Amino acid sequence: MNILLLGSGGRESALAWKMRQSALVDNLYIAPGNGGTEAYGTNVAMSPTDFEAIERFVGDASIDMIVVGNEDPLVAGIYDYFAAHKPGLLVVGPSKEGARLEGSKDFAKQFMSRHGIPTARYRSFTADEADEGCRFLSELRPPYVLKADGLAAGKGVLIIDSLEEACNSLREMLGGMFGASSATVVVEEFLSGIECSVFVLTDGNGGYRVLPVAKDYKRIGEGDTGLNTGGMGAVSPVPFADEVFMDKVRTRIIEPTIAGLKEEGIVYRGFIFLGLINVGGEPMVIEYNVRMGDPETEAVMLRIDSDLVALMRAAASGDLGDMELKESPKAAATVMVVSGGYPGSYPKGKEIKGLENVTESTLFHAGTKKDGNRVVTSGGRVIAVSSLGDTLPEALATSFASIAKIDFDGMYFRRDIGRDVTGM
Ligand code: AMP
Ligand code: GLY
Repeated sequence: MNILLLGSGGRESALAWKMRQSALVDNLYIAPGNGGTEAYGTNVAMSPTDFEAIERFVGDASIDMIVVGNEDPLVAGIYDYFAAHKPGLLVVGPSKEGARLEGSKDFAKQFMSRHGIPTARYRSFTADEADEGCRFLSELRPPYVLKADGLAAGKGVLIIDSLEEACNSLREMLGGMFGASSATVVVEEFLSGIECSVFVLTDGNGGYRVLPVAKDYKRIGEGDTGLNTGGMGAVSPVPFADEVFMDKVRTRIIEPTIAGLKEEGIVYRGFIFLGLINVGGEPMVIEYNVRMGDPETEAVMLRIDSDLVALMRAAASGDLGDMELKESPKAAATVMVVSGGYPGSYPKGKEIKGLENVTESTLFHAGTKKDGNRVVTSGGRVIAVSSLGDTLPEALATSFASIAKIDFDGMYFRRDIGRDVTGM
């Protein structure tokens, strides 16, 4: 098959690495890709949301399947576009309606209410309802959780301790703090617990497979302090997501989600990302995403011992049948090396040295670029250093040992990835 993968991050590097291993793949193209994805296929300078350019490329390169890495094209309706313009082309991802699970937090909360899926108590407010919103806040206990309804590049969630400040922030959000994304704001109860990420591949006809469970680390600082980032690392498996917990996830969350989509006639043939929180042993949904997680994918791909292309092709064709998704018994750890200053402003174009000395880990490039023979930084999150081990501490130790061989000006990473779940 000829496959086009859309996106340019570490997640896409990991997806491309895994897809390249499939005997089903003839040509793999990544648009736009990054300095590392060229090792697995051909980069194509094309925006993932330029559907007309993608359509021309699909024709020219005889593409059989599009795999969508990031949410923007999905929320913008890439599935529906190609269903109308190129019937027969496989697209791994939900329809535009399905992508609202990520594109609108209010839609996701209403969907969960309709299907009895456990999530935080909430109400949604629009600009003329700010007073009511503040009254609702006063009924909740601190801290207060405010979420912009629409996509806000991971920045649309505020967690605030004081009622007065929460009420002011609600007014600011409704007044346009996140542009149109916060024209509606979801106010919800704060849930206390440890989070994990569960990924499900569904064929839209009731068939699904659960991928290895992961946990990511969002804050820039050690001990989960400081600003939110796109993700500073991930581990898989997650010790607390044991069989008992996962049985609850399956029966209370995954199956009602898949049945709910079907019942509402929402076409969904792709990945569902459940952002879960473990509240005293009970899983609850913090959010849905309609794609794989980044950097979770950089750990999860190392633990899939089946042909991912065959699985994605089956899902996008609407029938996973009895196809197996084999999970490796090993543990995987990803540590992200980032540019100094990230997630604030940071320099670009720094030469990355020592990459050729890393032999024990897989380097998934994220913000890198080729500059002649050199590899230079081109983003905040630079390289996801991923390793397998018999145990999580072993996998983590391998990633840290590999990082010690890499260097660029201002390089930073968190040394405490995985510490909360391994106790080390
Ligand atoms: P989201 O963009 O929905 O993933 O929210 C970003 C982060 O905010 C989540 O990963 C959680 O750490 C936190 N968060 C969101 N909603 C809640 C909640 N109801 N209770 C506690 N933490 C939350
Ligand atoms: N790691 C969280 C996300 O991809 O949204």
